Amino acid sequence: MAGLHLIEHPLIQHKISLLRDKNTGVKEFRELTSETAMLICYEATRDLPLKEVEITTPLAVAKTKIISGRKLAIVPILRAGLGMIEGVTSLVPAAKIGHLGIFRDGENNAVQYYCKLPEDISERDVIAIDPMLATGSTAVHAIDKIKEYGVKNIKFMCIIASPEGLDKLMTAHPDIDIYCGVKDLGLNEEKYIIPGLGDAGDRIFGTK
Ligand code: URA
Repeated sequence: MAGLHLIEHPLIQHKISLLRDKNTGVKEFRELTSETAMLICYEATRDLPLKEVEITTPLAVAKTKIISGRKLAIVPILRAGLGMIEGVTSLVPAAKIGHLGIFRDGENNAVQYYCKLPEDISERDVIAIDPMLATGSTAVHAIDKIKEYGVKNIKFMCIIASPEGLDKLMTAHPDIDIYCGVKDLGLNEEKYIIPGLGDAGDRIFGTK
């Protein structure tokens, strides 16, 4: 069943605590973002279909399993989603990568400024990634866009989500699975997640 998957693994919770710490520097923040993304991706790929194959070991023929079915595409939402790419592709190295650039204007409307997706994306399952699900408007726009390309199976992965963002995304796209490390308290007036971790893009790229 589609819906929210809160991944409460101790390693994820530990790394999120370090990400929240305002004293965590750029290098460590970047590494932690990637590692946390990898751990959440491990759960998000738990239902990948398998097929049985025969492999010859040095001693015998083994009936064993490999991943089969549709291939994956990963779509980071710029710019903070880029910080999760390395961790995700360390688990699914053959996945193709698309890019969606979306920002929120003063009225909280999602405005797309860049879109470059794999040509065969309609034949792939897609995981859209953004570390922070705040108001949900960017995520909703991203999923709208990916659906426009004919993609049927979409997942959304984030590290921290607000209740408002989750409500908005699940209402607009009840058919998608959302994988998230923690659900926080809510948004402040500037639409930052509280307690959150601040601006993920600035902390990943060291721009502030
Ligand atoms: N984007 C961020 O990077 N942080 C937030 O708290 C909300 C949106």
